[in-house]
Amino acid sequence: MKYKLCVLPGDGIGPEIVAQAERVLGKVGEVFGHEFTCETHLIGGAAIDATGGPLPEATLAAAKASDAVLLGAVGGPKWDAIDKAVRPEKGLLGIRKELGLFANLRPARLFPELAASCCLRPDIVGQGLDVVVVRELTGGAYFGQPRGEEMRGGERVAFNTMLYAESEIRRIAKVGFETARKRGKKLCSVDKANVLEVSQLWREVVVEESKNYPDVELSHMYVDNAAMQLVRAPSQFDVIVTENLFGDILSDEAAIITGSIGMLPSASLGAGGPGLYEPIHGSAPDIAGKDLANPLATILSISMMFVHSFGLTDEAAAVDKAVAEVLREGFRTGDIMGAGKTEKRVGCAEMGGLVAERIRR
Ligand code: IPM
Ligand code: MG
Repeated sequence: MKYKLCVLPGDGIGPEIVAQAERVLGKVGEVFGHEFTCETHLIGGAAIDATGGPLPEATLAAAKASDAVLLGAVGGPKWDAIDKAVRPEKGLLGIRKELGLFANLRPARLFPELAASCCLRPDIVGQGLDVVVVRELTGGAYFGQPRGEEMRGGERVAFNTMLYAESEIRRIAKVGFETARKRGKKLCSVDKANVLEVSQLWREVVVEESKNYPDVELSHMYVDNAAMQLVRAPSQFDVIVTENLFGDILSDEAAIITGSIGMLPSASLGAGGPGLYEPIHGSAPDIAGKDLANPLATILSISMMFVHSFGLTDEAAAVDKAVAEVLREGFRTGDIMGAGKTEKRVGCAEMGGLVAERIRR
C-alpha cells in the first residue's frame, strides 16, 4: 500500500525526533512492503521565521491532501516576545481546527521497563498505570467567542468563553465510550458541573449518550477531584473524557505520573480526513540540536497512526515491540535514565536507529 504523510517538524527538538520517526517509518515500509512518502512543511516558530505566520497556506493544503500528519513540536522562547497574534502555538491550534480534529487521544501508561522512573510510590501505582485521556480539542475556552482584551472602567479586562454545543459534546462522548469499549469498559467523564452551566450540559449529554453504551460503566467526577484522584489512586481510571482545557491539564498530569513524558504519543482525530499524530511533550528548546531528545514518543505516535489512520495493526505492534525490546535491553535517553547499572545511555539518533533495527514482521 501507498501512504502520503505530511510531516511538520516544527521547533526545538521537533526536527530531531521527527527524523527518527521517519527512519522507523522507512524501516516498517521496507519490512512490510508499504510505500510511505513524506512531504515536509513548516509550522510554528519555524513558519513564522520563514513566512511571517505560524500556519502557512501551503502547510494547511498539504495537510488536507495527506493521509495523515506527523508533527514534532512547536514554540520556544525565541517567539515569546513577539506579537501575541502570531504565536507558534496558533499554528497548532489552527491546524487542529482546520482539520476538524475534535478528538485527542492521550494514552498515559507506565512502561514496565521504566517502572523505576514512575514518580508515585509503588503501593499507589498498585496494578499499574494505564489511562487514556480523551480530550475534546476544537471547542471550549480555546476557541469560544467572544474573547479578547479591552478597557473597562479605566483598566484592562480580558475574557474567554467556554462554550459547547450539544453536538460537540455528543461526538466526543461517543469517542470516549468507543475507546472505553475497546479497553476496560470504564468511562469517567470529568467536568465542573457544580459551578459551570457548560459542564451541566456536558453531563446531561454524556448521560444521554450512555444509553447507547450499556456495556460501558460511566462515572462522573469534578475536575478538581479528578486531578487529586489521578495522583491518589490512578488505577481506578480506564478512560477519561473531558473538555479541552480540563483535558489539557489532566493529560499532562496523567503523563508525568508515568515518569516518562518523553514516551507518550497522541492522536488527534476528526470525522474522516487525515488524523494528526504527535508526542505529547513540547519543543524542549533547552536541549534542541544536542542529540539528547527522546524520540520514542514520536516513534510511538507512528504506531498510533498505523492503528487509527491506516488500520495497520501488525505494523503498529511491530513498532511497539521494537520499542519495548530496546528498553528491555537497557538503552535509555537521558530523560528516562534510572539508577540501574545495566542502563546504556544513548542519544536521539542512536535510539531511533536501535528501534528501526528491531522492526520485524
Ligand atoms: C497541548 C499543548 C497545546 C495545548 C499548546 C502548545 C497550544 O499544551 O497539546 O497539550 O494547549 O493544547
Ligand atoms: Mg498541554
